[in-house]
Amino acid sequence: MTTENPTEANLLSRRVSRTEIGKQSGMNGSMDDWTQTLRRVVLVANRKGGVCKSSLCRSVSSVLESGGYSVLVVDGDPQGNVSEIDFGLETDRGRNLAMAMQYGTDLSPENVRGIDVICGGPELQGALGAAGIPGSGVSLDANLRGALGRLCEERKYDMVLIDSGPGDTMLLDAYMMSARWLIVPTISDEASFAGVDKMGARYAEAVSQRGAEIEFLGAVLTKVDHQATARNKAIRQELAEALGSAGEPFEAMIRYNAANAIDSRRHALSAQEVAAEGVTQRKSRLTELRHRARGSRNGEPEVQDAWWSRSSGSALAADYEVLTREILTRIGQKEAVNA
Ligand SMILES: Nc1ncnc2c1ncn2[C@@H]1O[C@H](COP(=O)(O)OP(=O)(O)O)[C@@H](O)[C@H]1O
Ligand SMILES: [Mg+2]
Repeated sequence: MTTENPTEANLLSRRVSRTEIGKQSGMNGSMDDWTQTLRRVVLVANRKGGVCKSSLCRSVSSVLESGGYSVLVVDGDPQGNVSEIDFGLETDRGRNLAMAMQYGTDLSPENVRGIDVICGGPELQGALGAAGIPGSGVSLDANLRGALGRLCEERKYDMVLIDSGPGDTMLLDAYMMSARWLIVPTISDEASFAGVDKMGARYAEAVSQRGAEIEFLGAVLTKVDHQATARNKAIRQELAEALGSAGEPFEAMIRYNAANAIDSRRHALSAQEVAAEGVTQRKSRLTELRHRARGSRNGEPEVQDAWWSRSSGSALAADYEVLTREILTRIGQKEAVNA
């Protein structure tokens, strides 16, 4: 009979300590108040879709939350995947965020499993439309900075993750003006590396032309075949060369695990929560089999009750834990340098 794997239990119970990142950034007067307030805002972006931007926001926020950090996720994608699917919210179709960007009104997050979430959705297109009208005087950048700054001031988030969509550059530019750090997830194909390139160009322009204070934190390879260690090393090297002096890719890689990804979205859970649930499900499956063997139950479980992920799901959860730690470490180091 299968017993619970102790390594897995350790992974699930291992927590990121709050002390891994200083509560005080130590930033001095060279930064204005706004930068100080928004110093933990991380933009997750790549001009390409399907590279795990939303999944990363979901699972990294969850690791942070379970480590005692207060976290906000801003769904900046007109598709609204992270709020609607990954967090399972009944969204306002991005209205609150769109209004904040268009009129500078306050942001009011929902709370899901301890994580604050600002919903995304098609209403974001409305803000874009307004800003695009010549002479409208609407500044998405300034409005978002103001609204996000006020919310950060009030709730003192340890970390804010902005998930972005692959398409619109005007939105992306506004997010870059509000963020302090940039993380670029990428899968290892030509198109995604090209997406990293495009992202890099946009980022460089925001910094040099528009005075954005955003700094590249790292790129992370996603959907990797974790068994192909030699190939992964080569791909990471290729990515490092493509990034050049911009900065090192993260050591952490996010493995391909379709079963966990499907369960995550179906049940609106993070990779960690799916892994934890996987353990519970395995136990109940065993109980069920025992019952069936005794003839006390018959029939298959309902399809919607079926969980696809097995214990391997915890390896994906561990990838996100390692990545989260690395993100915290890098931010901590850079903040110390800037201090
Ligand atoms: N580790 C993973 N392994 C396999 N598929 C994944 C993984 N993480 C996410 N997915 C799936 O890949 C697709 C794209 O992920 P998503 O996070 O939405 O990317 P993006 O936000 O960059 O468009 C989704 O269908 C998601 O369920
Ligand atoms: Mg997405």
